[in-house]
This record gives sequence, C-alpha cells and structure tokens, in this order.
Amino acid sequence: MKKQKHTRSAEDSVKQFSTGASEQLPIKQLLPPMLKGHWHQIVALFFAFLFTAIVEGIGFSLVVPLLQTLLSSNPPANSDNFLQLTFSQISQSVPQEWRVPGLLGMLAFVFLVKSISLIASSGMTRWFINTLRMDWTTRSLLAYLKGPYSISASRPHGEVIQTIIGETELAARGVLLLVDFSARCIQAGVLLLLLLLTNWQTTVFVLILGGLASALSWKGAQRFSLEAGQARRELRRDASKLVSETITGLRTIKLLDLATRRAKGLRQMLLHYRSVDTKFEVASGLPGNMIDLIAVIVGAAVILFMTAALKMKIEDVLPTTALFGLVFLRLAASATQLFSKRLQIASSLAPLQAVNEAMGIATEQLPGSVPFPGFSGEIVFDNVSLQPVGRHIIFDHLNMRIPAVGLTAIIGPSGSGKTTLVDLIVRLRKADHGRVLVSGRDVNEFDVRSLRARVGYLSQEPQLFDGTVAENLMMGRPDATEAEMLDVARLAHVDDFVSTMENGYSTELGRAGHLLSGGQRQRLALARELLRNPDLYIFDEPTSALDRDSETIINDLINQLSLTHPVVVISHRQDIILGAKTIYRIENAKAEELDPADFSRAGMAH
Ligand SMILES: Nc1ncnc2c1ncn2[C@@H]1O[C@H](COP(=O)(O)OP(=O)(O)O)[C@@H](O)[C@H]1O
Ligand SMILES: [Mg+2]
Repeated sequence: MKKQKHTRSAEDSVKQFSTGASEQLPIKQLLPPMLKGHWHQIVALFFAFLFTAIVEGIGFSLVVPLLQTLLSSNPPANSDNFLQLTFSQISQSVPQEWRVPGLLGMLAFVFLVKSISLIASSGMTRWFINTLRMDWTTRSLLAYLKGPYSISASRPHGEVIQTIIGETELAARGVLLLVDFSARCIQAGVLLLLLLLTNWQTTVFVLILGGLASALSWKGAQRFSLEAGQARRELRRDASKLVSETITGLRTIKLLDLATRRAKGLRQMLLHYRSVDTKFEVASGLPGNMIDLIAVIVGAAVILFMTAALKMKIEDVLPTTALFGLVFLRLAASATQLFSKRLQIASSLAPLQAVNEAMGIATEQLPGSVPFPGFSGEIVFDNVSLQPVGRHIIFDHLNMRIPAVGLTAIIGPSGSGKTTLVDLIVRLRKADHGRVLVSGRDVNEFDVRSLRARVGYLSQEPQLFDGTVAENLMMGRPDATEAEMLDVARLAHVDDFVSTMENGYSTELGRAGHLLSGGQRQRLALARELLRNPDLYIFDEPTSALDRDSETIINDLINQLSLTHPVVVISHRQDIILGAKTIYRIENAKAEELDPADFSRAGMAH
C-alpha cells in the first residue's frame, strides 16, 4: 500500500515537471527575467501609448468646449466650467476674425497629431511583439536543444512546438497588453482630473459607484480569467501533441486505421477550446460592450442625484450633464477598457509561464568545463548507477572497461540498458552515482561539445535531414572539401547509389531522407560520421534493420575502423561479435565480461 503511494507521487512529480505545472509564478516575478534586454523598447512603447492616449483625450475634451466657445461669443462670466472658462479666455485674446479659423485649425492639429501617433504606435506595437517573439522563440529553442537530453527528449514534440511557435506570440501579446494597460491607467487619471475640475461632486459620486461595481466583480473575474487562460493553454498543448504524434506515426495510423479516431479526438479538443475561448472573450468584453447602457443608467443616476440630493434645478443640471456625459463616456470607455485588458493580461499568464519555463531549462554544460583533449587510454565505467525517477533501476554499480583500441561488443536483452550505457559516454545521460572516466577524467568535467566532436555515433535509426545528399554528408563537418566528402562516400558505399541518381550529390532526400531505403540511409549516416574523423566510434545496433549488402558493407567498415580506433558496437549479430576483442553482456543492471574465446566459430557451433 505504502509502496504504491510512493510510486504514484514520483510519477506525478515527473508529469508535473514535464508539463511545467509545478511553477506558478506571479506576473511580477515572471516578467523581469523574461524582458531582460527589452526594457528600452518597453519604455519607448509606453510613452508612445501614453502620448497617443493623452492626445486622444485632449482631442475629445476639446470638442464640446470649443463648440460652446464658437457658438456663444459671450460665455457667462461666472461659469464654473473650468474648460469652458479657459477656452473662452483664450479665444477672447484672439482677434475676432481669427477666432473661428484659429480654433478649427487647433482642433485639426490635435487630431493630426493623434493620427500620426496612432500610426507610429501601431507600427511600434507590431515591431515590439515580433521582436519579443523572435527573442523568446530563439531562446526557448536553444534552451531545449542545450538542455539535458533526458529532460528535453521526454517532452512531447507537439508541446514543444506549440510553446516555441504559438505561446511565444500569445505571451508577447500579454506583455503588450500590460504596457498598453499602464499607459491607459495614466490616460484615465488625466481624464479623471479633467472631470474633477469640471464638476467634482458628480465625479466623486460616479467614482464611488464605479469603484463599488469593480470591487464587487474583480476577484471572481480575475480567477475566471486565470482559469480560462490556463484551460486554453492546456487545450492548445494537447491539440498540438495529438497532431504531432499523429503525423509522426503516419504509417501506423494508416495501418491500424486510426485516422478517423484521431481526427475526432482533435475535433473534441477544439470543441472544448471553442467553448472556453468564446466564453472568456465575451465575458471580458462585456463591460465595454455594455458601455452605452451603463452611460444611460449612470447619466440618469447623476441627474436624479443632482436634482434630488443637491436640490438643483433641471435647467441648470442639463447643460452640465451634456458636457459631463461626453467626458464621462470617455472615462467609462477607458475604465471598461482597463477592466477588460486586466482580464486579458490575467489570461496571458499561462502562455507567459509556458515560455518562461521553456526558456528556463538549465544547460547540460556544467560550470568549469575543460576542453576535451581527445580520447586516450581506456573508457572506464566505475560503479555506475542509474535509476530514472519512478522507473526501475537501469544500472546498479556497473563496472566496465573499454580498451583504447579494438572492437568492444556489448550484448544483452532488449531493454537491458545498452543504449543508455553508450549515452553515458557522449553525455546524453548522466549517471546518478559513480563515474564514467575518459582520458583519465570524469566525462562530466569536459566541455560537452568538444567531447561529442570526437565521437562518431551511428544509431539503429539514422537521422537525416531535409536537404541534398551533399548537405546531409557535410552536416557534421561543414568545412570539409568536396574531395574529402567523395572519399567517405566511396568508403561507405554511398557513391554506389548516389551515382545512379540523376542529380547525384545534389539530389534532394525528402523529409528526413524518406526517399532512401533503410540501408541507404544508414550508409549515408555512416559516411557523415566518417567525414567528422572522430577518435571513438559507437555503433548502436547499426545493422539490425538492414539488408544483407548494407550489413556486410557496414560490418567490414567497423572491423577496418577497429584496427586504428576504439570502436564500441552494440549488436546481436554474430559476425561482429566474432571479431570483438572485448565482450560485455548487460543484464540485471550489471555488466559481465565474457571471454571472446567462447564466441569463436567453434564455440558458437555448440
Ligand atoms: N528517459 C528514460 N526514463 C526512464 N526510463 C528510461 C528512459 N530511457 C530508457 N529507459 C528505460 O531504460 C531501459 C534501458 O533502455 P535502453 O538503454 O534503450 O535498452 P536497450 O538499448 O538495451 O534495448 C529500458 O527499460 C527503458 O524503459
Ligand atoms: Mg537500444
């Protein structure tokens, strides 16, 4: 009972780690590290927004007083309307014949400035979103690529792609919303000041009204937005996961006839997304879309308040209310905008967190690494233990020595840890306990890139990339000459099939080389390794999926290489084991050295 509970919680923590659900940083802690290097842009954008907002505010608050000034040349001297008074004073100082064109010109000028600043800030906005996105996309892709293999590789591809491509854009929009929000707060403040100067009693009355309404709805609205943001993020992630897995498993999907079921699964997720997304967008836009209704209600309340509570006459109230109504609409518009934007910001927290988490994968490079001098001497596995969280033990105090020259064969049942063992040499995995010593030092002390540069690794499933034969060959060493490339191509018998192609080495291989056969792919991948001219070669079941010809070609090359290099081969194939100087069997989390004599041709016959 107790054991079961332990296993479950360990699995949960693995799941939590891979989905990033464990970290829930508030926006204040989240943003500063993410926005490093972008603060000057943010400040510029903030002032652009602020300038636009204020010019816009001034433009609108100018209209009515200007009109009033234009219409009545003698405004009442005792007017308590600050704006009207100011404008009438200004206009009084201008000669009569210049008054009308002057005021109209001023109005046009303010709106010209407003238009220009709107255009400029829309340009700055797109530029800023794309800059942020570009930065975050690159940073998260690099973090993923430079992170420990065991962590990066455990993440579902769809999720990684969605985070790097999709969430970065949504997160950048979130930051933009925040900048816009801050600028609009100040705009709202300016408008409020104008209102207070115009009629402070009514303003305070409306403020209390609005404050009360938002205080009552805020907490619930905030939680709703956070949850909607999280739910949308999870649905996007799951949909991307499903699509990516489906496309990768195309052959199996077809053979098991899963196409309809997969499409249905995707549709189900998107139905859910549609519902969550619509609900959120409608709800967050609600105050803004109800603004006219609110204005009427508030307007009525203000008139009632002034006539009933302040005992003012309706004729005195109406002109003030008309002016007030216009400015109020601006204030209410900006207040509801603020409310909506604040909800949108809350719902952007999920993408921001996803991007932050993606960029936060620690690099596999350990501090204080020294450049790798090249392989010399034997490779020693010294009491190596490995047990991934929540999984069975893979290595239990395993000991093994790989000689400096010659062929070492590693055999063992499927799932015994053979691939994991060689992954420890190239630092794709890290031992929990014990050490792997190369050139006399712990392999983890070396700079990981310079270490891998000295290793040629051929796996069972060779990975080719979109591009030509030549591009794939040169990938491991872009500075190689064409002659060097042709040399290795002949050595690995790549030339045999490339020379029959119409475009030779310029032939496009298709996605991941899918236009080639398994044997051709493997030979090409081997040539790519040969071109890199490494010290140590590792072959992980290189011929298990190959035709007889390709198998012979690769085995001959392995034997040839083992005359001058240390070569590690994981294999079940006897002809390779027969040539091995050293043989280890991995079983039950240990390595057992076998006597090559037992594998002599005579010995095998029995
Ligand atoms: N990232 C991982 N997390 C947990 N367990 C793993 C991981 N990768 C491999 N394993 C487990 O380690 C064992 C050894 O895998 P592997 O080295 O691929 O075996 P082999 O190459 O001998 O067939 C398997 O039981 C597998 O389930
Ligand atoms: Mg394996």
